[in-house]
Amino acid sequence: MAWLPLLWMILGWVQNDLGADPIRAIMLRTGKTALIFLWFSLSCTPLFLLFGWTWVRPLRREFGLYSFFYASLHVLNFLWLDYGWDTTIIFEDMFQKPYALFGAASFFILLPMAITSWKWAFSALGPFRWKRLHQFGYLAAILAAAHYILLVKQAYAQPVLFIAVLILLFVVRFFLQKRNGRGAHHV
Ligand code: HEM
Repeated sequence: MAWLPLLWMILGWVQNDLGADPIRAIMLRTGKTALIFLWFSLSCTPLFLLFGWTWVRPLRREFGLYSFFYASLHVLNFLWLDYGWDTTIIFEDMFQKPYALFGAASFFILLPMAITSWKWAFSALGPFRWKRLHQFGYLAAILAAAHYILLVKQAYAQPVLFIAVLILLFVVRFFLQKRNGRGAHHV
């Protein structure tokens, strides 16, 4: 299922069916897919806390990795197809477009989280440091949401909806962890 957005994009590219600006279409689709998977990943703990669904907890990592995968395609598309690796123009444009800086900040938080999502990293870092690092998922989400809301021109409904869901997830998690007194176990 997680590969369907990619398959859909590849088919669109091959069949020349991505509209007048295929590079922008890929940018928008990979960005949206990365965002959705990040939100899915952040939903797992609140769903577990609310309904006791233990099966959702392992999906956190899987969704997080898919988010990083699509975010990497997004960044690759930006650097390669959109800017042809022209670092001078990339840096100039990045600093002229604050939304791009927020996107980059989000990506550079997701990167160490993806690298350390494997068992060896958990042993190497130790549970405390590992959990601390992985709590930055919320910061990555806030930065990605800022990236999204800053780049849209009029259609604010979708980014606002994503932000509302993020706030809800955070509130559920915060209060239920407090109530259960199990904060340390559900990072
Ligand atoms: C170096 C990092 C990044 C850069 C340079 C970047 C750049 C861009 C650009 C140029 C667009 C298209 C703007 C437009 O044509 O209107 C875009 C859209 C978007 N990006 Fe990023 N981005 C980055 C990272 C991220 C990350 C990490 C996420 C999510 C986790 C993300 C999510 C999105 C979303 C949701 C959209 C809008 C999609 C839509 O309107 O349907 N971006 N980004």
